[in-house]
Amino acid sequence: LKAAPKPPSAVGNGHSKELHDKPLLVLYGSNMGTCEELADRWVSLGEMLGMPCSKASLAEAISSDGPVDLRSAGTDCIVAIITSTYNGQAPDNAVDFERWLESDGASATVRNLRFACFGVGNRQWTNTFLSFPRRLQTRLEELGAVALVPMGEGDANSGQVSSAFDAWNRSLFSEIFKTFKLPVPAGIQDSLNPSFEVALHVGMEAREIQGGDATLILEDALARAKGSFLKNCRSWVTQVSLNRELLTDEAVAQGRSTRHIEVDLPEGHGYRAGDHLGVWGANPDEVVAAHMDYFRLPHDSVVSLSLLRESDASCLVPLRRKTDVWSTLAYCFDLQQPASMAQIGILAPLAACPAERADLEQLSSDAGCHAAKVLAGKRTLLEILKAYGSVKLQFGKFLGMLPAMKPRFYSISSSPIKCPNSLSITVSVVTGTTPSGRKHIGVCSNHLKEQPRLRPASVGLPADAEHYMPLILFVKDSGGLFRLPEPNVPVIMVGPGTGVAPMRGFLQERAAQGARENILFFGCRDRHELLYQSELEELQASGYLKLFVALSREPSVPKAYVQNLIEQESDLVVDFLQRGARIYVCGDASRMAPEVRATFQRVAEKIGLGDSFVASMVKQGRYCEDVWA
Ligand code: 2AM
Repeated sequence: LKAAPKPPSAVGNGHSKELHDKPLLVLYGSNMGTCEELADRWVSLGEMLGMPCSKASLAEAISSDGPVDLRSAGTDCIVAIITSTYNGQAPDNAVDFERWLESDGASATVRNLRFACFGVGNRQWTNTFLSFPRRLQTRLEELGAVALVPMGEGDANSGQVSSAFDAWNRSLFSEIFKTFKLPVPAGIQDSLNPSFEVALHVGMEAREIQGGDATLILEDALARAKGSFLKNCRSWVTQVSLNRELLTDEAVAQGRSTRHIEVDLPEGHGYRAGDHLGVWGANPDEVVAAHMDYFRLPHDSVVSLSLLRESDASCLVPLRRKTDVWSTLAYCFDLQQPASMAQIGILAPLAACPAERADLEQLSSDAGCHAAKVLAGKRTLLEILKAYGSVKLQFGKFLGMLPAMKPRFYSISSSPIKCPNSLSITVSVVTGTTPSGRKHIGVCSNHLKEQPRLRPASVGLPADAEHYMPLILFVKDSGGLFRLPEPNVPVIMVGPGTGVAPMRGFLQERAAQGARENILFFGCRDRHELLYQSELEELQASGYLKLFVALSREPSVPKAYVQNLIEQESDLVVDFLQRGARIYVCGDASRMAPEVRATFQRVAEKIGLGDSFVASMVKQGRYCEDVWA
C-alpha cells in the first residue's frame, strides 16, 4: 500500500490489537456520499482493532496517482468494498475500476485476494437494484478472489442501510478474526459513529459568533465534500431568480404543490440538457426548533465541535469554529430519518427505567420489532427520545448519532441553448403526515419552495447580517447516460409528473436545433397538474411536438397512464422506432418505468422486432432512463 498507515486511533476501546499486521483496504463507489460515510465506519472499526487502514474510491485504487494501489496490496490485506448503483451503472468514481476488472491485467491482482463487498441500493428500482455491486462480486469471484462472507445488501427503501451494514459487519469482522485464527472479541461494534467533543455556549449573543453564519458552515462542509460527491463539480451559493407554482390554485388549496425554480448561473458555470442539479437542503424551522427545545437550548446558542477520531474527518459538520446551533442543525444533519437499530442500541443503556431499557434493547436487536414499531411509523430519533423519557442523552452524543445531510438531485428542466445564463428545475413539494402523526416536511423541496427563505428572528443574528438562508447548488453531469442524439434522430419521451422536467429541457434544445420529430407522453392526475401546459401546446402548434397526455384521476375522462397511450399510439411509436428513434423515460422507478419498458417491448414484438428489442436498445444506449424511487 502506498499510503502510510494511520496510527490506531487514540480512543480507549479496550480491544486487543492482534490484527496490527493485517492491512484493511477500504474501497468505495459513491455518487452521493452515503457509501463513503459507511466506508469511514470500516476505517474506524479497523483502526479500533489495530489494523493499518487505507481508504480510496474504487477508481483511485487502480490509478497510478491514487492514495492506495490495489495492485501492490499484499496477501495479508483484506479488501472491503462498499458501493451503490446509479441507474444500473457504476458510480462515477467506480467506472474505471469496472473497466479495469474486465481487462486482462486484473486477474493477476485479484486472484486469492480476500475481500468483502456491501451493496447499497433501493429495492424500488426493480430493474437495477444492486446491479453494479452484484457484477463486482461475481467478477471478483470469477477471477479467483475469495469472498470472506456473502455480499451484504442495504436497501434504502426500507430505511435500513445503516443497520443492515452494522449487522453484516458483525459477521464480516468475525470472519476476519477466524481467517487469521484469532479469537473473536465481544462487542466489536462499539462507537462506530463519529464522536464529537462539543463546547456549547448557551445564551451567548449571536454577534459574538466568529464565522458562524450558515454560508460559512456550508463553505466548510463543501470544502470537505470536494473529496467525495462534489469531486469534479463546482458549487455556488445563490438565491433563486424565479419561484413559481405550476399547479392550479384549486390543487394548491388541497395541499398539492409543484414549483418551477429558476437560478442564475455564475460566470463560467455551464450545464447540458439531461444533467442534474444538486441541491443542499436545510431542515424546516419547526423541525430544528423541536430539536433545540428538546435539548433545552436557547435558539441563539452557539456551539463548536471537534472530532474525537481522525478517521471521521469526512463528516461534513463544521469543526473547531463557533457556529450557531440553529444553522448547524438546519444544514448539517438529516433530522427526519427513521431511527436505526444501531442508534436505538446506543440509547438503550442510557435509559434509567428498566422497562424502557428492555423495550429499547428489543427495538435495537429484533429487526421485525424495529420494522413494525419504528420504520412503519417513520419514527425519528427525536420521537424515540420523547417516547422514552428516562433516556438521558447529551447533545454532543446525539449529534454524533445523526446521519449527515445529503444533497438531493433534480433533473434540470431547461436547455443551455435556450437559457445559457440560467437553469431551472421542477420540484414536487413533499409534505405528509407519518403513521405516528408527525408532520413530515420534505427537506429539500420545502427549502426550495420557501426561497428566498428568511431565518427565524429567534436565532438572534444581528440586524445587519444576511437574513436569507443560502441555497447551495452544483451541476452534476449525467455522465452521458441521458443525452440527446443528433437533431436528425427522432425522439420519444415519456415523463409523467415531474418526470417531464428533463423532457422540457430536451424540447427547448430540439426546437432550437430545428429538430421536429419529437413525441412526448406526459401523465398526471387531473387538469390541475398539467405542468408547462401552454409551453407544450405551443410547441405542438408550431410542429415541434406530438403531445399525448394521460389523466389518471380526471372525473370527466377515463383513467389512463402513459403506457396506455403508448399502446394506443403504437403505429406512430413503431414508425419512430423503425426510423431509429431514441426513447427517454423519466419518473417513478418502482412501477411506471418497468411498465413503460414492458409496453414498448410489447409494441415492438407485435411487428416482429424480436423479444429482446428493448434490451438491445438499452445496450446500445438508445433506451435511456432517468428514474428515481
Ligand atoms: P395515480 O397517482 O392517479 O395513480 C404522475 O404521478 C402520474 O403518474 C399520475 O397520474 C399517477 O397516477 C401516474 N402513475 C401512477 N402509477 C403509475 C404507473 N404504474 N405507471 C404509469 N403512471 C403511473
